[in-house]
Amino acid sequence: TTEDDAAGLLALLRSVPDHPAPGVTFWDITPLLGDAQALARATGALAEAARALPGGRIDLVAGVEARGFVLGAPLALALGAGFVPLRKAGKLPWRTVRQDYSLEYGEASIEAHEDAVPAGARVLVIDDVLATGGTASAACTLVQRLGGELAGALFLLELVGLDGRAALATALGGAPVAAV
Ligand code: PRP
Repeated sequence: TTEDDAAGLLALLRSVPDHPAPGVTFWDITPLLGDAQALARATGALAEAARALPGGRIDLVAGVEARGFVLGAPLALALGAGFVPLRKAGKLPWRTVRQDYSLEYGEASIEAHEDAVPAGARVLVIDDVLATGGTASAACTLVQRLGGELAGALFLLELVGLDGRAALATALGGAPVAAV
């Protein structure tokens, strides 16, 4: 994105103090999602960033529940890739693989169907926000446990003060990371 584009998108994000726990600031993307032009610009910018990642083809986009679903499906369409939902524990109907992780405010788990990723498929992980990196690390680890090759991790917004990129480095194992 150009700086003007990025600033325009940033202006449509709402920071909510003390949600979902005291001391945590929640970055709410719903104003951006509700603006037709901003939604198109944001998903276009994500596709552009995905194409610019080193390493070549992307077979699957894996989106983290919940906002990684909203951004991940149009991204998958734009890239000609399939979509894999990484869901909060207990939601998927069939046999799953689970990955536990820590959040700023407690513990959580994500799951994927055990056959979601064909062996060797190149998978791009997408989420709305990179904060501490706990969620994205779990997503990247889960993709690799499923047999996928990590194409990278992509975010709409990176909260640089929380050092999520450093926390994510181990799980990425050299795969690239980008934020719009
Ligand atoms: C938010 C956000 C990311 C995660 C980032 O989701 O959508 O998934 O936190 O934080 P981290 O880098 O510190 O792990 P949240 O866990 O609030 O779940 P939700 O989608 O159910 O709101």
